[in-house]
Amino acid sequence: MEKIQKLIEEKVGYLIVFTFLTISIAMLVEIVPLMFMKQTTEPIKGVKPYTALQLAGRDIYIREGCYNCHSQMIRPFRAETERYGHYSVAGESVYDHPFQWGSKRTGPDLARVGGRYSDEWHRVHLINPRDVVPESNMPGFPWLARNLADAEIVPAKMEALRKVGVPYTDEQIAGAKAEVEGKSEMDALIAYLQGLGLALKNVR
Ligand code: HEC
Repeated sequence: MEKIQKLIEEKVGYLIVFTFLTISIAMLVEIVPLMFMKQTTEPIKGVKPYTALQLAGRDIYIREGCYNCHSQMIRPFRAETERYGHYSVAGESVYDHPFQWGSKRTGPDLARVGGRYSDEWHRVHLINPRDVVPESNMPGFPWLARNLADAEIVPAKMEALRKVGVPYTDEQIAGAKAEVEGKSEMDALIAYLQGLGLALKNVR
């Protein structure tokens, strides 16, 4: 045993190989079972795939980089759950590709912001946050109200998501374009925000 230890510690090549092996095994044991556990791959009750409009809004959220300042991941600590509500669970994100958990919180976590404010509040806030929160340092996104959401591309996005397991029906995909057509990017983004975290909204 001592001989092996000496060999590994003195020969850097062995050290690299064995370190790599050890980490690989640890990863296999920790990560692979998660891919097959029901708890992490099945939606919890009340979680539905995004509507066409919400999906368009989610992509605007990503395009505008909202995730650079906002996480969507409530950690299971009292300070977090008192402020934001029930901690986030894996079954809430099964239809999110890619998920928006984030890690930077310049602004508050948004995992359960759905229903917290009116659509009108969001509209005013997104155009100029300081109109409703005077001390806010969030930038305004006034162009969202002027731009129309891209309706053409939504059915293709839903098809792609269906391939990775989001259960959209043919009718939903067929109706997607009409649902988004004529709506502004602001409407889409607000529809997305208002749907966030509702499944565990009133659970404490
Ligand atoms: C530079 C950082 C920054 C960016 C980028 C940013 N925000 Fe914010 N956001 C904040 C800060 C700080 C607050 C807290 C003050 C306030 O309410 O305006 C906030 C608050 C919010 C709130 C209110 C949350 C609550 O619980 O009160 C919402 C909703 C929100 N942001 C949505 C967005 C969306 C959507 C985007 C992208 C279009 C975005 N933010 C981009 C910093 C940012």
